[in-house]
Amino acid sequence: MQKLLIIDDNDEILRQLKWGLSKSNYELVFARDGEEGLRLFKKHTPPVVTLDLGLPPHENGIGEGLRCLGEMLRMDPTAKVIVITGNEEKDAALQAVRLGAYDYYKKPVNLDELKVMVDRAMYLQNIESENQELRRKTVNESGIVGECARMQAVFNQIDRVAASDVPVLICGESGTGKELVARAVHQKSLRADMEMVSINCGAIPENLLESELFGHEKGAFTGANKLVKGKVEYADKGTLFLDEIGEMPMALQVKLLRFLQEMVVTRVGGRKEIPVDVRIITATNIDIQKAMEEGAFREDLFYRIGVMTINLPPLRERGDDIELLANYFLKSVSVGQRTTSKRFSGEAMACIRGYEWPGNIRELENRVKRAVIMANGPEIMPEDLGMKGDEPLRQKLQTNDISLKDARLLLERDMVENALEKFSGNIVKAAASIGVSRPTFYDLMKKHGLKSS
Ligand SMILES: Nc1ncnc2c1ncn2[C@@H]1O[C@H](COP(=O)(O)OP(=O)(O)OP(=O)(O)O)[C@@H](O)[C@H]1O
Ligand SMILES: [Mg+2]
Repeated sequence: MQKLLIIDDNDEILRQLKWGLSKSNYELVFARDGEEGLRLFKKHTPPVVTLDLGLPPHENGIGEGLRCLGEMLRMDPTAKVIVITGNEEKDAALQAVRLGAYDYYKKPVNLDELKVMVDRAMYLQNIESENQELRRKTVNESGIVGECARMQAVFNQIDRVAASDVPVLICGESGTGKELVARAVHQKSLRADMEMVSINCGAIPENLLESELFGHEKGAFTGANKLVKGKVEYADKGTLFLDEIGEMPMALQVKLLRFLQEMVVTRVGGRKEIPVDVRIITATNIDIQKAMEEGAFREDLFYRIGVMTINLPPLRERGDDIELLANYFLKSVSVGQRTTSKRFSGEAMACIRGYEWPGNIRELENRVKRAVIMANGPEIMPEDLGMKGDEPLRQKLQTNDISLKDARLLLERDMVENALEKFSGNIVKAAASIGVSRPTFYDLMKKHGLKSS
């Protein structure tokens, strides 16, 4: 049965809804304030929510309701939230819709009407998740692996922006797949048949970057002994990908802005204005907002390039995708190396899940590649990954920020290790002491990379 979460602080309305919807095909979950609502939202991930905007502690305002709305959509951008408004300001409902609410409903509640709205939202949600299931496959064709809600939202955004010609800014920590996403946007756009020309603004010395971008005429400077076209010109009719845009020197930011406004190129040392037609995609791993505050990045340029922004979550915020990606890389490396297939030991996987991944997917890919070479047996151990046991997971256990599955793994390892120690490596006794058979005990030792001495 599909779940419907109802967040409302008014007992009378709650009773009404409970009675009116009890005969519907939904499993009802009730919350009486924002905090409880968010907790239950996280727990049940309901496809549809009705949310009273006037929640305590500000029953007459809409602040808490809007906050709650924003939080829920952040957790699951596909959720359909129907806001229920009372006598607040007229545009409260519109404000909520602008924030991403699915629809709004004005009190007093007419149950039949509300039920129709809920049914429709459920229906739409079903269709959308079926579509997403299909889309997931096609996006994987661009080589982007991801099943978590945050990545599904990214895939949606890619599809949405690809269809248009607007500039796209891709933000994310290093190694989160910004270039991959840029390529996917290009490949899905109308310009897919033309080139995507990339330039890394952070890797080229300041004095060369301008000519690299816009080209130069013969004799423009010492050493310029022939005419050279810039990347922008090469990208004509296609896509120009400006990587590490946050590193672009101020002087050049001005020139880039002028180019974006006019869409004409003037080569260094030249005067002719050459019109070009390019679609701009930019990427950065720095906090552009902060760079603007510090005066290191021009606001007017930001407004040009950041019409649409795609935020890539860091790997540590992608939940089960970590496991998915690790196995994906393991498979692709093994195929390349023609080695016998290897797998991650339970301990290694626990390490992978618990690690912070500052270098994100790139780091994961590199560590897995290395591990395949390093591993002696069929199982990859934490050491092969260059990781030290289960330290990161244990830290998470301390703060209760851990899944039951991972906590079980830790406990399992501890028990096997302790038993081995207690009986000085006597497997028969050690196995009996924790109530498992000898073969099972051997399996557990192998799983956790433990030896009997
Ligand atoms: N979701 C993903 N699925 C599969 N491979 C991925 C994914 N994300 C990133 N990768 C791979 O990880 C590596 C790093 O990705 P990419 O170069 O796109 O990251 P980036 O954000 O541009 O990094 P940097 O900031 O260091 O330039 C690439 O080899 C890419 O193919
Ligand atoms: Mg990159």
